[in-house]
Amino acid sequence: MGIFAFLFLSLFIFYFVISDAAGRITQSQALSDGTNLVSKNEGFVLGFFSTGNSTNRYLGIWYNNIPVRTVVCVANRRNPIRDSSGVLMLNSSGSLVLLSQNKTIAWSASSTKEVGSPVVDLLDSGNLVLREENEENPGSYLWQSFDYPTDTWLPGMKLGWDLRTGFERRLTAWKSPDDPSPGELSCGIVLTNYPEIVAKNGSKKLGRTGPWNGVGFSGALGLKANQIYDYNFVSNNDEVYIMYHMIKNSAITRAVLNQTSYLYERDIWVEADKKWTTFISTPKDKCDSYNLCGPYGNCIISESPICQCLEGFKPKSTERWNPDNWAKGCVRTTELSCEDKDKIGFVKFVGLKLPDTTYSWVNKSMNLNECRVKCLNNCSCMAYSNSDIRDGGNGCVIWYGDLIDIIQVAASEQDLYIRMPASEKDQNIDGQNEDLELPLFSLATIAMATNKFSSNNKLGEGGFGLVYKGILADGQEIAVKRLSQNSRQGLSEFKNEVMSIAKLQHRNLVRLLGYCIEGEEKILIYEYMPNGSLDSFIFDQMRSNILGWSMRFNIICGIARGLLYLHEDSRLRIIHRDLKASNILLDSKMNPKISDFGMARSFGGDQTEGNTNRVVGTYGYMAPEYAIDGLFSIKSDVFSFGILLLEIICGKKNRGSFHPEYSLNLVGHAWKSWKEGRMLELIDTCLKDSCILSELERCLHISFLCLQQHHEDRPNMSFVVMMLHSESLLQEPKEPGKTSSSSSKNQSSSINEITITLLDGQ
Ligand SMILES: *[C@@H]1O[C@H](CO)[C@@H](O)[C@H](O)[C@H]1NC(C)=O
Ligand SMILES: *[C@@H]1O[C@H](CO)[C@@H](O)[C@H](O)[C@H]1NC(C)=O
Ligand SMILES: *[C@@H]1O[C@H](CO)[C@@H](O)[C@H](O)[C@H]1NC(C)=O
Ligand SMILES: *[C@@H]1O[C@H](CO)[C@@H](O)[C@H](O)[C@H]1NC(C)=O
Ligand SMILES: *[C@@H]1O[C@H](CO)[C@@H](O)[C@H](O)[C@H]1NC(C)=O
Ligand SMILES: *[C@@H]1O[C@H](CO)[C@@H](O)[C@H](O)[C@H]1NC(C)=O
Ligand SMILES: *[C@@H]1O[C@H](CO)[C@@H](O)[C@H](O)[C@H]1NC(C)=O
Ligand SMILES: *[C@@H]1O[C@H](CO)[C@@H](O)[C@H](O)[C@H]1NC(C)=O
Ligand SMILES: *[C@@H]1O[C@H](CO)[C@@H](O)[C@H](O)[C@H]1NC(C)=O
Ligand SMILES: *[C@@H]1O[C@H](CO)[C@@H](O)[C@H](O)[C@H]1NC(C)=O
Repeated sequence: MGIFAFLFLSLFIFYFVISDAAGRITQSQALSDGTNLVSKNEGFVLGFFSTGNSTNRYLGIWYNNIPVRTVVCVANRRNPIRDSSGVLMLNSSGSLVLLSQNKTIAWSASSTKEVGSPVVDLLDSGNLVLREENEENPGSYLWQSFDYPTDTWLPGMKLGWDLRTGFERRLTAWKSPDDPSPGELSCGIVLTNYPEIVAKNGSKKLGRTGPWNGVGFSGALGLKANQIYDYNFVSNNDEVYIMYHMIKNSAITRAVLNQTSYLYERDIWVEADKKWTTFISTPKDKCDSYNLCGPYGNCIISESPICQCLEGFKPKSTERWNPDNWAKGCVRTTELSCEDKDKIGFVKFVGLKLPDTTYSWVNKSMNLNECRVKCLNNCSCMAYSNSDIRDGGNGCVIWYGDLIDIIQVAASEQDLYIRMPASEKDQNIDGQNEDLELPLFSLATIAMATNKFSSNNKLGEGGFGLVYKGILADGQEIAVKRLSQNSRQGLSEFKNEVMSIAKLQHRNLVRLLGYCIEGEEKILIYEYMPNGSLDSFIFDQMRSNILGWSMRFNIICGIARGLLYLHEDSRLRIIHRDLKASNILLDSKMNPKISDFGMARSFGGDQTEGNTNRVVGTYGYMAPEYAIDGLFSIKSDVFSFGILLLEIICGKKNRGSFHPEYSLNLVGHAWKSWKEGRMLELIDTCLKDSCILSELERCLHISFLCLQQHHEDRPNMSFVVMMLHSESLLQEPKEPGKTSSSSSKNQSSSINEITITLLDGQ
């Protein structure tokens, strides 16, 4: 196609205007609105376009073969032409200028060099270049559009810095889908000693990829080589940039910043569907928000709350469960002393996105050991790592000051060594933390979480108060135990007790998350157990079918371990005093967790060691010596465990179980059947198909050992756990103690003081 139009621009100069598919702009050939310049491979088009309903005209580049017009670059994005009078041409001094009818310059591009016979070509890559006619070398281009990215990152386009000139190339989103002028969202390399890509909202950091470790960015696993495209990160004295190129040339892909959705998206054109498909989208979750968890916080998306403290650190704010407080981050559980180098060590952390590198230092030729020494010798050095993970790790990077914006990422191969007091390495072995601080919640937070203690949120009630389900602002589900107000405990006494209970941490105990004291209110906040309590399964005809033998055995072993921990492994030596099916809660994987531990000790009223004049517990589970004489010990808990075991095996409650032939309770009936060798009659019918009989018989046997009349005959929990897991011969049990329901003389007088803990859930 040839020239088809003239455009009158000034009295003295006539320009030829090129038409579609014509190759280039020269000093005698201009491009006017309405005509396009197409790249040689016909992949890209340079032309004028409008957005939305606007009549504003922009000069831009878009894909030629993609039916949905997808603009990758806009020249006059800040300065639209109000009508279709725009003309792009080379003026006599060799600058590329965009003129509108009134001769004002809407946009221009000039070379710093002297220009001979300039031409402007749209290359196959989508790069518009101004160059000398015979100059093919990209390094000698006079000007190129790839140096001025709009919102789209194309293959072959550098993002980053020319250190010689201080020139930066970064992406800036369109203000809106109809307005290509620069929005607040931008993305580029931040020049620290250990550079990384940072997305910003205005001047505020929104998110970072983490630094380049030779293979990828430590926190952006998507920005890694793959089957379709490959990255090239360059950092030397002249330049710092990242670029990517296509492996399969046929694929069309772009990365684009979107102000509307606040996303960085990697899209691939799917010809079959005739649409763009998102391949990667960042931020992918809340953890990608910059510095969400504050210094030494670790964002773990699968955790609840997602902000956790790195090991060896504790929340700075005790009310950190409020997301507003997350950014305060964490502080050391043990202070660092700087002077004494013997008291300093480094703890290796794996699988982390490396901290913000604003205050970092790199030496590419140091090894890890030199790196450690370098870090050790400066008190403000908080961590070190290899700067490059290739070939087993090379180079040294160290961080000064607080470590921020850390995320748990699955596949990072770059270990981070964090400065710690030497003693820290030996602590926290069983999760017992000396300096544990339990978060204090405000009453307002709890009221909001429980919908003002709405009766719809009620999970149950017991002697210690009502229990509600709650949802915190960050979405975490909690169980809220509002202690009844008649507890005469003082505030500091209450707090001390809560703190001591909080130190009890075991996977088979319901975790205490925090507490609240305000006015008359005393509230405990626990983790929420979605599957409710054990009794709602084993005593329910329908739901009992869900619990096959292997699940029940797992539950039995879990309860035993939890109780063992309370009795022997925790420092407090807790006697539960109210172990029963409704106090065993089940997590989402049906793991058992004992609840209400420590409650009797803390809130159960007056007690002397081993004897109480106020019996706390539930008849049917109480050991005879406890029910009758108020004597409690770890062995009275063992008795309750025996009852629980029997109930799990038989699927029947101890109280209220009547056999047609014997007017006995469950224990009496079970003992009789066992003695007469009719064990199979006992087993919950729904277990008959799933059970391993030998295992089940062993459990039954252990149950009777736990139920013996004299507490000194009963095994301790460590022995119970051992018996559950071994195949050794078991001792013959003596006749079970008569449980309280049939024998307690004091029953009627003390019945009002019985603690029936919960109806359902917690
Ligand atoms: C564009 O015009 C259409 C039809 O006139 C109208 O429905 C739509 O709201 C307009 N959009 C904008 C962004 O003004
Ligand atoms: C010329 O046009 C530009 C863009 O269309 C506009 O911003 C400017 O105000 C106009 N100037 C005059 C003198 O009309
Ligand atoms: C060509 O355009 C450039 C950029 O706008 C300007 O600096 C230069 O003076 C123009 N040359 C002439 C001869 O108008
Ligand atoms: C970006 O900044 C603006 C203005 O400061 C603010 O209104 C907006 O919420 C911010 N967006 C994000 C995603 O941070
Ligand atoms: C940005 O996202 C909005 C909606 O999420 C979409 O309509 C628009 O096309 C996107 N812009 C780009 C440049 O992809
Ligand atoms: C980097 O480390 C090497 C090897 O330890 C050393 O020779 C060099 O001086 C260091 N460079 C700087 C700038 O510290
Ligand atoms: C430790 O490093 C910081 C940050 O580079 C520096 O300001 C300080 O002088 C160093 N201190 C020592 C003792 O080298
Ligand atoms: C236990 O809870 C999880 C998560 O709420 C749920 O997916 C699962 O179905 C529950 N299991 C039973 C047996 O109810
Ligand atoms: C538990 O019982 C076993 C066997 O009777 C005994 O050897 C062990 O010392 C007991 N453990 C404790 C802590 O009392
Ligand atoms: C139980 O009753 C006996 C006799 O009736 C009495 O001596 C004992 O103190 C009572 N125990 C409790 C805990 O009330």
